[in-house]
Amino acid sequence: MSKTFYIETFGCQMNAHDSEKVIGTLEHEGYQRVENEDDAGLILYNTCSIRDKAEQKVFHRLNEYKRLSGEGKKFAVLGCVAQQEGEKIFDRAPYVSLVSGSASYRNLPQMLVRLESGEKRITGLDDRQTEETFDTEFTARTNPHRAYITIVEGCDKFCAYCVVPYTRGKERSRGSDSVLAEARRIADSGFTEIQLLGQNVNSYRDPSGRMTFAELLAAVGQVPGIRRVRFTTSHPRDFTREIVQAIDSIPSLCDHVHLPVQSGSTAVLRAMAREYTREWYLERISWMKAAKRDISITTDIIVGFPGETDQDLEDTATLLDEVQYDGVFAFKYSPRPNTPSIGMADSIPEEEKSRRLQILLDRQREIQRRNYAKHLGTTMEVMVEGHNSARAQVIGRSSQNKTVNFTTAQPILPAVASYRSVRITQTFPNSLAGEAVAAE
Ligand code: 5AD
Ligand code: SF4
Repeated sequence: MSKTFYIETFGCQMNAHDSEKVIGTLEHEGYQRVENEDDAGLILYNTCSIRDKAEQKVFHRLNEYKRLSGEGKKFAVLGCVAQQEGEKIFDRAPYVSLVSGSASYRNLPQMLVRLESGEKRITGLDDRQTEETFDTEFTARTNPHRAYITIVEGCDKFCAYCVVPYTRGKERSRGSDSVLAEARRIADSGFTEIQLLGQNVNSYRDPSGRMTFAELLAAVGQVPGIRRVRFTTSHPRDFTREIVQAIDSIPSLCDHVHLPVQSGSTAVLRAMAREYTREWYLERISWMKAAKRDISITTDIIVGFPGETDQDLEDTATLLDEVQYDGVFAFKYSPRPNTPSIGMADSIPEEEKSRRLQILLDRQREIQRRNYAKHLGTTMEVMVEGHNSARAQVIGRSSQNKTVNFTTAQPILPAVASYRSVRITQTFPNSLAGEAVAAE
């Protein structure tokens, strides 16, 4: 029982992949993963603090763990809430014995030894000290169709609303040799899809000075066996023409770019310290629109940032019209601890934020309805990601990152991670539906 662990993960893909590295590290240290917290000697909780409710959820969940704490179990809180709340977690949940932010995970093996020897308040709290990245050859691959590689950790951008520079530490990139070696290992183990990760993935700076981000992207796309390469999240500030050229010339690089704009108003962008204007952003969009391939573009938006006026909102709405995104993740602004925007004047009431959010979502839904309708009758390559057995349907994804649900004439549904050609027979604002045209 003591060498078993259960891990629960919240938050972004970075966090999901951090958990894969943590699982691999624990397994290498002799721990065995179990699927149920009741069976575990050690319970780990990998947390997120990007928006308000995220950390409330953590404390709520920790409270639920309390019922297990009498049984000699140990608890660890990892990730962004761990880094943000630090030792305060021990006060609120005294049965927790380890608190560590992501910038300290490379010290996990030593922390585990201390935990086993019965130490009670072990911390790995970095506070932007680290220059090192956390790489491990023991990474557990828990996603059956996609292998992640972290190429940039941390963030130095300090957008006024964002907690990440405080929770994930200083920006640091991993050497291109090490990234490519991992990509080759991944391909050798049978994966065909790789996603490169970083809070600012395209601000990658090769410590060996050998490659730009676009060159690394191209090199990963040329690893034998790799059919799809994705990357998230890009910052407009670091988005180069070279990236578009790489996508245009290497078919394995997916024709999808997620480029968070946050607001269509230059005044709000300035207040957010985003370091670009509406026009500057739209210029990057025009590079993608001019590409030979049909690059699908998605974005993140924050509504109700302090001081946002009706005109600012209208600027964001017209930006949606101009860009014609294939997907928009829109969030109500939520003040985060330590961030510069926390004390800003002119905060927007919650109901007003909801109203603004709805205006944008309604507008975007129509755009997507039209965009997705353009695929009707076309045939595209789809990677199988799952099955809906109740409806005998296959759930997959196109290179453009669109969800494609399809049926097949074969009695056995195609395996996860295999590819099929699918003819699109129905379109919706968020997904496509069709039928497989030929078995591979
Ligand atoms: N409030 C609301 N949304 C936020 N995001 C980041 N910080 C905040 C915040 N304080 C959104 C941004 C970012 C996405 C991951 O989460 O849009 O791109
Ligand atoms: Fe959440 Fe941001 Fe941390 Fe990811 S990096 S887990 S989104 S706070």
